[in-house]
Amino acid sequence: MNKARHIAIIMDGNGRWAELRGQKRVKGHEVGAKVVRTITEFCAADSDIERLTLYAFSTENWKRPRLEVEFLMKLLQKYLDNELETYLTNNIRFEPIGDIRAFSSSLQKTIFEVKEKTAHCDGLVQSLALNYGAHDEILRAINRVKKSQEDITEAMLSNALDCKHNVDLLIRTGGDHRLSNFLLWQAAYAELFFSDTLWPDFTTVELEKILKDFTKIERRFGGLK
Ligand code: FPP
Repeated sequence: MNKARHIAIIMDGNGRWAELRGQKRVKGHEVGAKVVRTITEFCAADSDIERLTLYAFSTENWKRPRLEVEFLMKLLQKYLDNELETYLTNNIRFEPIGDIRAFSSSLQKTIFEVKEKTAHCDGLVQSLALNYGAHDEILRAINRVKKSQEDITEAMLSNALDCKHNVDLLIRTGGDHRLSNFLLWQAAYAELFFSDTLWPDFTTVELEKILKDFTKIERRFGGLK
């Protein structure tokens, strides 16, 4: 039976969730952050799940209105401040991916601190993708390995990526069917699940159903059964 060891999620639909309720888009992000905690705790409690990688802020998200970007930065800061306890209580290691040099120095400091303070945790690894884009990640990886005289191998490139682990199951909420520059290398053989549920409404019940469906898939990785 297939077990999803590395789950990646594109958490889409926050803005629409809020607009449907006549609220500002940012309210959707605020509720979405609470769902991040619920889903993370659920994954931490499932010993089969080793990694959970969540798309929190993309390299393209800077194009959003300034106030929304500022809100997301503050929300991230608040989330990391508040959730350190959740990480430690649940033995979760925080391993951010993405190029965080674009963030304010105080936010970068918090990101490093939470990473350091949870480095000893050996349960679930939660990765937040922060100022992350797969093209940017792959370009940064190529620039790291290009000094080598040898031909670049798959293993060399893979080891130079922010996220060095193949994804088993990639979920996108919010109804769209696209990857939006998320983990393009690592998701080469991921099983893709698209849900119409808007991220703030996503529940552990729906995740459990997806995990159950995942177990029934025959994964061949390009080979034959
Ligand atoms: C997409 O919703 C979501 C994001 C741009 C970022 C995801 C952010 C969160 C889940 C909240 C913050 C997370 C943390 C960890 C603090 P959208 O705004 O694109 O929704 P829409 O498609 O309905 O407009």
